[in-house]
Amino acid sequence: MQPGLAGVRRAGPDRSTETEERLLSKVALARISAVGTGVPPKLLTNKDLEKLVDTTDEWILERTGIRQRHVVEKGVASSDLAAEAARKILAQTGLKPTDIELIIVATITPDMQLPATACLVQHKIGATGAWGFDLSIACSGFLYALQVAVQFVVNGTHKNVLVIGVDVMTSIIDYTDRQTCIIFGDGAGAALVQPSASVEEGCFIDFLHEVDGSGGDFLCLPGGGSKNPTSHETVDKKLHYVHQDGKVVFKFAAVKMAEICVRLLERHGLTGKDIDVFIPHQANLRIINAAVERLQVPADRVIINIDTYGNTTAATLPLAMQTALDQGRLKKGDLVLLASMGAGFSAGACLMRWGF
Ligand code: COA
Repeated sequence: MQPGLAGVRRAGPDRSTETEERLLSKVALARISAVGTGVPPKLLTNKDLEKLVDTTDEWILERTGIRQRHVVEKGVASSDLAAEAARKILAQTGLKPTDIELIIVATITPDMQLPATACLVQHKIGATGAWGFDLSIACSGFLYALQVAVQFVVNGTHKNVLVIGVDVMTSIIDYTDRQTCIIFGDGAGAALVQPSASVEEGCFIDFLHEVDGSGGDFLCLPGGGSKNPTSHETVDKKLHYVHQDGKVVFKFAAVKMAEICVRLLERHGLTGKDIDVFIPHQANLRIINAAVERLQVPADRVIINIDTYGNTTAATLPLAMQTALDQGRLKKGDLVLLASMGAGFSAGACLMRWGF
């Protein structure tokens, strides 16, 4: 049996064997070729939160693993952070803004309900001629957007696609709700998706996603949409803020993130031990640890930066990619597993060979 895109011999035929053979036969591969971030400098520490709600630094650290979050100054919007991340990619790669063909912005905190934040980013970075759109699936947004981008690249219609995960969570958080306000921070991360000439150059191998709308009520922002249009009443009831049942979300996440990863790995005859770098969504350190334990990925291969950023929703994965690069723990050809979970409920996983 030949090794597949994952470069690991598989025990027997499965659905992904067909996928891999199809991909290889067409030599239509896509890879991540650059990453950039936009992080506001201002910090909100656990000690700062002690002054806002009845909590302690020790409680937050023990129950979530978070020490601090980056937060925007008043007036800074998602498109500002997203454009900063995009500009870093342009600077690294030498691409001109006009080389960018498509911008996909994953966010639940668009600057405005309309126009799409992708349009605002396009204008800010000067990507004349590009098209784009926003994708809204909360914490799974970046991963789902990556898969969309990959389709455009492997079908040969696009060569330079910017995928941006950005959220200004402070704009939708109730800073009197101690269960929720301790978790979230602001930030943006972007990845450039380009064609790849070979497996060695890096490539996406497979994705697996799943949504379960029965979990919708447990993590939601009930006001301001078509169900509860904004009114004095919705504001009085604080429906314009994130509402969550932390325990239910925790239980879903602690089980689901690992489960979807196992299913994806099994499609390739792999286990967590085969993974070089595991980059999980950063929602709660205990959720990450539950996934790591189930997957049995060695601890030194797991990227964790929740202590620094908190949960930045759609931005956690690209921010964690940048952390891995900064720490010298991610190199070209590494077998990387990404995992997401979040509101919806939604979950996702991606297997790739790192591309730069
Ligand atoms: N500081 C101090 N005490 C707090 C607190 C805080 N910030 N938040 C909650 N508590 C209290 C609760 O009121 C409760 O007190 P009680 O026993 O007197 O009722 C106690 O701590 C335990 O609460 P519990 O909800 O069991 O805590 P937890 O260990 O489940 O942690 C979360 C709460 C929110 C941190 C945790 O449930 C979580 O992370 N859930 C997932 C949230 C998430 O990831 N959301 C985004 C998904 S992408």
